[in-house]
Amino acid sequence: MKILSVAVCSALFLNFSLANSELIEKAKSFGLVALPKDKTSLEKFIEESAQDSKVYPTTQARVELGKMLYFDPRLSKSGIISCNTCHNLGYGGADNIPASTGHKWTPNPHHINAPTVYNSVFNSVQFWDGRAAHLAAQAAGPMTAEPEMASSPQRVEEIIKSIPEYVKFFEKAYNKGVDIDFDLITATIGIFERTLVTPSRFDDFLNGKENALTKEEKAGLDLFIEKGCVSCHNGVNLGGSMQAFEVVSKYKFANIGDFKGDKDGMVKTPVLRNIMLTAPYFHNGAIWDIEEAIKEMGSIQLGIEITDKEANSIASFFKSLNGKMPKITYPILPPSTKQTPKPELDY
Ligand code: HEC
Ligand code: HEC
Repeated sequence: MKILSVAVCSALFLNFSLANSELIEKAKSFGLVALPKDKTSLEKFIEESAQDSKVYPTTQARVELGKMLYFDPRLSKSGIISCNTCHNLGYGGADNIPASTGHKWTPNPHHINAPTVYNSVFNSVQFWDGRAAHLAAQAAGPMTAEPEMASSPQRVEEIIKSIPEYVKFFEKAYNKGVDIDFDLITATIGIFERTLVTPSRFDDFLNGKENALTKEEKAGLDLFIEKGCVSCHNGVNLGGSMQAFEVVSKYKFANIGDFKGDKDGMVKTPVLRNIMLTAPYFHNGAIWDIEEAIKEMGSIQLGIEITDKEANSIASFFKSLNGKMPKITYPILPPSTKQTPKPELDY
């Protein structure tokens, strides 16, 4: 009797662990990709993913300088808005309001929500309509956009060049006498953003640590695959590529804002890493509740009804995508000089 129960137990146990490894294989075969486990492979993977890393390889000096620029509000016309205003690194890498709001309290004219900057280095394109190929090209957008930082390339260059310590940092990061132009400034911010990567329990699981996910999270992962969410939310970011939107039916809040995707109506699939930290959801931030967002996806993209229970299960899986945030020491910014252009608040 005793022998039998031991046998049954181990059979069950075997079955369970087989299911785990099966789920791992299944997830991988559907295109889900883990961040590499060890530091060196992860750094290599990031460098390969950063599309401008051949021209601008990552170095520690560039990362440190890029971090200062990321936090420096002087790059905006008003002197009060930095990248971190809308992509708050302590708050999921986003602003977590429906329509991003910038210069002079101006909401995004298309009622667009700010995506997280965490893990954005792995996106195949940037922006909701995919109009920027990589992070450096992306960073040029907000600095000059009127509703965001409202600055200009000349102003940004003038500000940096008027601060001798910045000039010194650029020379240290690149070479003596380097031409500090707008492109170099945005590229350097992009280099800092490469470090905003958040390995999670989901990665541990795909990398073979079978108990990294709870039973509920595993069931949610399986459902996420079975329902067909992976057909668009795949790769290392479970998103980040352009996909069709409103495949089966219309988005119920399509009337808020006028965003229509790219010229073919395609939309950049959002990154699902840290998704539990970045409500509200959808391009216009119209849905606050993750389960409602999941159900809406089922109906507009797949033409299926997702029950409350199923939505809850997928949301459990999403918790495993909350990653380990990099430790960021707030940079001390070099002081302005007499030559530094003054803030223009346009009162
Ligand atoms: C006023 C708020 C605001 C400021 C300031 C701002 N952004 Fe953004 N950011 C947005 C919004 C809104 C979008 C989406 C715009 C779109 O898709 O058209 C965005 C998109 C992005 C993306 C693309 C992410 C993705 O998944 O597509 C990155 C990366 C990014 N911003 C980085 C930056 C950097 C770097 C700075 C500073 C130079 C910055 N942002 C300043 C609001 C802001
Ligand atoms: C045909 C491709 C496709 C399929 C299938 C799909 N999605 Fe999406 N998903 C997208 C796109 C594109 C968006 C962005 C929509 C927008 O806001 O315009 C999105 C947005 C989301 C969001 C909001 C993210 C954010 O940051 O705002 C969540 C959550 C989500 N999807 C989960 C799911 C789940 C769960 C499934 C399966 C039930 C699923 N998706 C199926 C393409 C897809």
